[in-house]
Amino acid sequence: MAKKKIAVLISGGGSNLQSLIDRQQAGFFAGEISLVISNNKNAYGLIRAEQNKIPALHISKKDYPTNELYDRKLIELFAEYEIDLIVLAGYLRYVTPELIAKYPNKIINIHPSLLPAFGGQGFYGAKVHQAVYARGAKVSGATVHFVDEGQDTGPIILQQAINLDTKWQPEDIAEKVLRIEHQILPLAVKYFCEDKLTVENNRVYIDL
Ligand code: GAR
Repeated sequence: MAKKKIAVLISGGGSNLQSLIDRQQAGFFAGEISLVISNNKNAYGLIRAEQNKIPALHISKKDYPTNELYDRKLIELFAEYEIDLIVLAGYLRYVTPELIAKYPNKIINIHPSLLPAFGGQGFYGAKVHQAVYARGAKVSGATVHFVDEGQDTGPIILQQAINLDTKWQPEDIAEKVLRIEHQILPLAVKYFCEDKLTVENNRVYIDL
C-alpha cells in the first residue's frame, strides 16, 4: 500500500504534531508528514517541523484576508504536495465548505473533550478545560473526528475518556487530556493510512 501523504495544520505549540512525527519515525503508521502549515508565524510547531526537515509554511491572514482566499491557497498547496490526508492538530481556524468538499472524510480534527460535550462555537484549547472545570464534570477526554461543515459535528473516529479528580485545576485536566490526544490522534492516522475507516450515516466503522 502506498504511503499516504499527510499535511498537518497547526496554530500553536504543536505537541500533537510532535506525537505524529514521533510515531511516524517509529513506523507506527504508513504515512509521511509532507507539509506543516501554521496560520500563526510564532507557532512552536513550525520549529518542530523544521527540526525534522518537514516543509513548514506560515500562511498569513494578511496575505489571504478572507476565509475563502485563505483556504484556496491551502487547496493549491495540498495539490502541489499531493496530500491525501489533512490533520488539524490544534488548528484554530474556520475551515471553508470549499476545502471540506475537496477532501471529504479526508480531514481529521482532534478536539480536547468528549464531543458533543464542550464542543462548537467558542470551545477551543484552554477554554474547553476551563468549561469542563467550571461545570464540575466528572469525566472528560478527547475526540478525533472527520471534519464536516458544522463545528465539531463530523463523524467520530475515536474517543477516550478519563475520570477527573476534583482536585485537578483546568491546567491539570489539559495535561491529562493531551496525553490521551497523543495516543488517539496517531491511532486514527494509522487507521486512515491503512484504509480502515469508512463513514456511513455519520458513523465511522473501523475495519480491524
Ligand atoms: C489540543 O489540546 C487540541 O485538542 C486543541 O488545541 C490543543 C493544541 O495543542 N484543539 C482544539 O481545541 C480545536 N478545537 P498542541 O498545539 O500542543 O497540539
